[in-house]
Amino acid sequence: RSPASGLMVIYGASGDLAQRKLFPALHHLARDGLLTDEFGVIGVSSKAFTEQGFRDHLDETVRPHLEGGLDETSWRWLLKRVSYVSVDWEDPDDFKCLAQQVREMDARWGTDSNHAHYLATPPSRFASLVAHLCEANILRRDPQARERVIIEKPFGHDLDSAIALNRRLLETLDEAQIYRIDHYLGKETVQNLMVFRFANAIFEPIWNRRYVDHVQITVAEDLGIGHRAGYYDGAGALRDMVPNHMMQLLSLIAMEPPASFNAEAVRNAKGDVLRAIPLFTADQVAQRTVRGQYGPGQISEEGDVHGYREEEGIAPDSPTETFAALRLEIDNWRWAGVPFYLRTGKRMPMRQTEIVIQFKSVPSMMFRSTGVEDLAPNRLLLRIQPREAIVLSFGAKRPGPSIRIADADLEFCYRDRFGLGPSTGYETLLFDALRADATLFQRADSIEGGWAVIDPILRVWDDSSPGDFPNYAAGTWGPEAADRLMQQDGRQWNNQP
Ligand code: BG6
Repeated sequence: RSPASGLMVIYGASGDLAQRKLFPALHHLARDGLLTDEFGVIGVSSKAFTEQGFRDHLDETVRPHLEGGLDETSWRWLLKRVSYVSVDWEDPDDFKCLAQQVREMDARWGTDSNHAHYLATPPSRFASLVAHLCEANILRRDPQARERVIIEKPFGHDLDSAIALNRRLLETLDEAQIYRIDHYLGKETVQNLMVFRFANAIFEPIWNRRYVDHVQITVAEDLGIGHRAGYYDGAGALRDMVPNHMMQLLSLIAMEPPASFNAEAVRNAKGDVLRAIPLFTADQVAQRTVRGQYGPGQISEEGDVHGYREEEGIAPDSPTETFAALRLEIDNWRWAGVPFYLRTGKRMPMRQTEIVIQFKSVPSMMFRSTGVEDLAPNRLLLRIQPREAIVLSFGAKRPGPSIRIADADLEFCYRDRFGLGPSTGYETLLFDALRADATLFQRADSIEGGWAVIDPILRVWDDSSPGDFPNYAAGTWGPEAADRLMQQDGRQWNNQP
């Protein structure tokens, strides 16, 4: 792909996301020759820095995040292109100064009014910030999307607030200018889900209710909540992971083949999946969902760890869930009757993000006469992270005179095949945003579709006390009820690394 040019304005530029992800990602793009000389960055925050002071600050704080992949020349190239504007978020005059700086940077770097505004600020600021940018003429409604805003999650707190935020943004901007980010869509392995399904002829014919018994999606983390108590305790596992990252994985796995790899076609096909998920009644919430909260326990890397209620900044009786599991259905011709089991949690035994496509058993057991009683059905494992891989499991004959059948694997490992380098997951997304390609960003309907699925669950959970919290020990696979959710259907989670 030809390199990208343009001006990226990062709001919240002295914050954690900018340091850990955005500037490292820009450095990786520069290192890989994916930015032209017509490129510049303006950092914006409320902190008082001079231009040089901000560059020095970046040099000090971003370097540790370059994970051994630092290329000194590219890093210097990037720093030289960074300027800085300090704002009081509520002062319109400061946005006039910013508008002036945008014009100057356009002239300095020849960025040709191609602007991507990255809102890496707390979500409570999104709507008012966009309003200030519009007032200062930094952003103008433009269906051609020369000026775009990139908006981080969380996009809303529930369905109503997501709809309200979309509505406010669309009062001043065109949908084509709003790039709602989900960093899962920047992961190579997530993007590969579409390539795997639609660039290969052999999987699609069996990718449906006739051959698939069920699908499992697990996003397990061994980490706790770190220093994010304030955000996390108000959100919980369901809001934090399900309407966004997990619904993206689900739609990529379940979508119909789009007619082309173009932003609208892909997003229409994904949206259709969300719209086909029947919404839970209150009774179904009780039967098909499980919530959990970790108590003290052990994590292999860290040893003994606190329970959630003992974490700094968390109330000793917090009802917030750190684990959520659900059983969904997709009511369309391809998937009717195939359960999709989703689970995510903090302080589970390991980091493991994966999708399991469990196929049906063979229709008839012809090997029974030879004493083989049980055959494991075929399974396709799409491991998103870590140790990115695709593994197809099947039965193979053990050598010897009698028929004995063992599980065997065909494994494709990304690193062995392609040498996957260090990446923040944001590189492709920033590159696409500069080139005005919205394929990997979420449209208003997909954000609202994700919230719509979990809204009935939120209503029941928010209104009823969990009662048995904490109900799983840190370092385990979540509450027993999550195992029962599978066992009652005669199935089980894949807990193998
Ligand atoms: C974020 C959540 O969106 O995704 C975090 O807010 C979570 O709680 C993170 O830890 C997981 O992302 P990744 O890329 O580490 O799987």
